[in-house]
Amino acid sequence: MDKLIIKGNSQISGSVNVHGSKNAALPIIVSSLLSDKSLKLLNVPNVVDVSNLIKLLKNYGVKILHNKNTVNINPKKIKNLSADYDVVRKMRASILILGPLLSRFGEAKISLPGGCAIGTRPIDIHLDGLSKLGASFEIQNGFVVGNVKSQLIGNKINLPFPSVGATENILMASVLAKGETKISNAAREPEIEDLSNCLIKMGAKIEGHGSKTIYVQGVTNLKKAQHKIISDRIVAGTYIIAALILNSKLEIKNFNTEYLKSLINILKKMGANLNVNNNSIRVLKGPKLKSTNLSTSPYPGFPTDLQAQLMSLMCISNGKSKIKETIFENRFMHVPELNRLGAHITVEKDTATIIGNQIFKGAQVMASDLRASISLVLAAMNANGQTTINRVYHLDRGYENIEKTLGSLGVEIKRKKN
Ligand code: EPZ
Repeated sequence: MDKLIIKGNSQISGSVNVHGSKNAALPIIVSSLLSDKSLKLLNVPNVVDVSNLIKLLKNYGVKILHNKNTVNINPKKIKNLSADYDVVRKMRASILILGPLLSRFGEAKISLPGGCAIGTRPIDIHLDGLSKLGASFEIQNGFVVGNVKSQLIGNKINLPFPSVGATENILMASVLAKGETKISNAAREPEIEDLSNCLIKMGAKIEGHGSKTIYVQGVTNLKKAQHKIISDRIVAGTYIIAALILNSKLEIKNFNTEYLKSLINILKKMGANLNVNNNSIRVLKGPKLKSTNLSTSPYPGFPTDLQAQLMSLMCISNGKSKIKETIFENRFMHVPELNRLGAHITVEKDTATIIGNQIFKGAQVMASDLRASISLVLAAMNANGQTTINRVYHLDRGYENIEKTLGSLGVEIKRKKN
């Protein structure tokens, strides 16, 4: 397993172009299964989760040409999918295959994803919603086996929680269902909007996407389409926090700053010096930041995917901060590793308390999940001395060429292949 070796006290400068969104690309690639016409995608992030999903679809007859950030998909000759455990447990987004397959073929077999480092990650909201469209499910030897008697029928579905994945699964299934589907308490993340915009280009009839109520009029077939994936707001937020943790001037370009309003408001409250334009942010040097308290929440609230990164910044800011994690039940795996780097963080149930004004000191640490790993990279760049981060395959799932990008900004970072 690869390691990253980072020399601390980094100073960075220049600019970084934000790559395509992993969490938009994954559902959009899966949505191609709804149609027998080709789908061309641009600005696809070159990350491991995308390559793994493409490998999965290729195994089942889908023709895919993938070169760097462009993906051409021809799903005409698909044999029905049954995604196995070792694929699904590594990439939970595979569960999104259920909706399109049930809608197009009336059957689907997917391994139950199981839990992961940040939580049990159940799929009850997915299955309940799809059942309301007429699918029936059985659990057989760790697989979810879904069947539809004739055709999915549009329905009114009220989500008990605005689950991103469940909204995506139900939305995709409703595209070919008979009649109207109304999804209430839907997730409002920009990635849902991007998926909907791509489906509309494919011929779907969707309204209200990005709000908490989405309406879909079922259609009988879809057409050839091309779509450019939105930029990754979580990657953009990560680089903004990197510039602040190093008190360096940095321009983060090529993303819709509207999608990061909650982070920008928090950072300004902490005293950050930010010039915000529509598609870029310039971070300027400034005084030591102040502490603050926040809770993660569904969009447009503060994103759980930036919680670990902000925590690293709070460790070196003034005063005591608190973060309440309301989305996942175990998303503080980065805390013991940050404490190994000299942080002083305690966790009580769903709330972490971060004592500021700490000095990070280089050490050996272990990555545990995608966003926890990047919080360790941020701390390591600020630390006195050298840090080795083990199991960086977590990072490669969501950040394109992380060491190349950070190296180009001035960080002394290298990957040691094991
Ligand atoms: C998506 O995961 C993202 N992944 C996650 O990003 C992100 O953290 C999460 O949304 C929240 O924003 C992708 O888009 C591929 P949820 P998802 O369904 O869809 C519970 C990253 O780092 N829940 O909104 O799995 C669930 O257990 C990843 O890029 C149920 O109880 O998130 C969790 O506590 C990590 N039953 C909460 O809802 C269900 O059927 C939020 O989950 C579904 C979810």
